[in-house]
Amino acid sequence: MKPDNKKEENEQISVVIGLSHILADTYTLYVKTQNYHWNVTGPNFQQLHMLFENQYKEMALAIDEIAERIRALGHKSPGSFKEFKELSSIEDDPDKLDSRQMISSLIKGNEIISRKAQEASLIARKYDDEVSSGLLTSRVSVHEKTAWMLSSLSE
Ligand SMILES: [Fe+2]
Repeated sequence: MKPDNKKEENEQISVVIGLSHILADTYTLYVKTQNYHWNVTGPNFQQLHMLFENQYKEMALAIDEIAERIRALGHKSPGSFKEFKELSSIEDDPDKLDSRQMISSLIKGNEIISRKAQEASLIARKYDDEVSSGLLTSRVSVHEKTAWMLSSLSE
């Protein structure tokens, strides 16, 4: 929906900035999770290979939904590696990681997104954008659950 005035326009931009950061973070974590799906080794290979696959597939759907929410608000969605790199807080890992290090990197990434999605959701709610707020809250729920599952593996 088009904002009525300058104040509403600025409020909507704050929501779009939040969504754009979550999009970039989710895309970055998606690539990282798929990389680990391919390259994980060790006695738990099968279990981790499948678990990472479920996680990156879920994120692939979420990425599309978040980008299309930005478009529905009338803004251009980030969509290039350059933009994602600038917007994301999730860092690349060294080339060679063992399965424990992969799990710990994914826990960190999921925790970063759940924390940032929570903040972005509160901003959206403050500006009466219940749709964006709901979408972001659903991302908090997914990433908290994924972080819990990964933490349970590493205990
Ligand atoms: Fe695969």
